[in-house]
Amino acid sequence: MFQLATRIIVRKFLVLIKLIGRRKSPFLFLPLLVSLLVLWPTIWWFAEQTSQTLLVPLPLEHALDHYRRNRSLHHYLSNIQTLIEPSWTPCESLDEVPVVVLVTSSPHNLANRQAVRETWAKHQPTYFVMGLIGNDVDDQLVDSYIEAKQFGDLIVFDFHDHYQNLTLKTALMMKWTLHRCPQAQFMFKTDDDVLVNPWMLKKVIKENGDASLLGYSINGTQLNRSEYSKWFIPRWLLSDDRVSKYLSGTGYLISGDYIEAILKKAYNIPIVNLEDVYFTYLVAHKQLGLVLTHDRRLSPYKPWLKTSCLYWEFASIHSLSPDEMVSSWSRLKRLVDRGNGTSECWFFESYLGDYSDVVLY
Ligand SMILES: *[C@@H]1O[C@H](CO)[C@@H](O)[C@H](O)[C@H]1NC(C)=O
Ligand SMILES: *[C@@H]1O[C@H](CO)[C@@H](O)[C@H](O)[C@H]1NC(C)=O
Ligand SMILES: *[C@@H]1O[C@H](CO)[C@@H](O)[C@H](O)[C@H]1NC(C)=O
Ligand SMILES: *[C@@H]1O[C@H](CO)[C@@H](O)[C@H](O)[C@H]1NC(C)=O
Ligand SMILES: *[C@@H]1O[C@H](CO)[C@@H](O)[C@H](O)[C@H]1NC(C)=O
Repeated sequence: MFQLATRIIVRKFLVLIKLIGRRKSPFLFLPLLVSLLVLWPTIWWFAEQTSQTLLVPLPLEHALDHYRRNRSLHHYLSNIQTLIEPSWTPCESLDEVPVVVLVTSSPHNLANRQAVRETWAKHQPTYFVMGLIGNDVDDQLVDSYIEAKQFGDLIVFDFHDHYQNLTLKTALMMKWTLHRCPQAQFMFKTDDDVLVNPWMLKKVIKENGDASLLGYSINGTQLNRSEYSKWFIPRWLLSDDRVSKYLSGTGYLISGDYIEAILKKAYNIPIVNLEDVYFTYLVAHKQLGLVLTHDRRLSPYKPWLKTSCLYWEFASIHSLSPDEMVSSWSRLKRLVDRGNGTSECWFFESYLGDYSDVVLY
């Protein structure tokens, strides 16, 4: 039916072109011109407007339904079992662990995990945390067991892996760190599309050894009530219109000395879906009065100028595809192999310094 209609339209159009081509009916130019210049933008505008209203709403409200029944973090954590975890971690043989990195991943993101494994994960203990998705849970578990056996860096919990469940995932990371790596000086919570510069991360830690929470501070944010937003948070979850400051969830450090206090306190604070707003602002800052230390090197952005010095300048950069991760890493690695960025990147250090954010997006 559709094909037939298309064929008829195309045929009519060809006839029209032929007519114009023969210049037998020059009056045909006018309507064609009018339709092109006037009608087309109008139709386009109309389509834009209606597509806004016709867009099927993302099932976000529905995704948050379980928080209408219970918003107790303790309730969720006590019902979630650990399905897979490494049998051994370096934490078992080391007295001092400067940082343990926990990466939020998801069963479908194997390519991201491989990119991270091939690149920065080799430089400090790094683990991927995920839940389960959909109906073929058994197949997924088999895949995860094989992957876990091969790499020894998977932690899988029996909860539904969904963007709106990141708060649970982060809480599980904290619980796991307390249990398996209690001596870690810091836990670094990050994502599988983040490139970490292990050398700069160590420097950041060295310079801020006594910070309780450390990351990229986002200040005076207006909460988004639009269901189309990735950062949607309904009023019934959090009535405040503004959040004075929180650390971007793309990568923040929590001091090992405070993980337990934060988790315990969170048991009394009703869950919200935005994990960074929840843990760094609502629980740590607002309730516990902990200082959120801003460090621009833990950036939630990435440089648009793809030079190795910019990769050197930041401890984390966000939103990289697996391919980008590998290519950015090889630039950074070459720089490090020649010495490190400190001498070669003096221009960026001294001239851009605090303004190096201008090369980010
Ligand atoms: C939520 O779960 C907690 C812990 O299991 C329980 O004490 C509490 O009564 C529950 N709240 C509601 C509203 O069901
Ligand atoms: C989040 O996880 C809980 C526990 O597994 C589950 O009940 C809930 O449906 C999940 N939420 C989403 C949006 O999948
Ligand atoms: C947020 O505020 C802190 C001071 O509280 C400041 O150092 C930091 O630069 C601000 N963050 C951004 C992204 O501007
Ligand atoms: C909320 O998100 C929507 C969709 O992404 C966006 O158009 C709107 O500007 C955002 N509002 C605020 C206050 O950030
Ligand atoms: C880079 O090299 C210099 C000189 O060897 C050293 O002092 C500095 O600590 C190094 N920086 C990092 C971040 O490794």
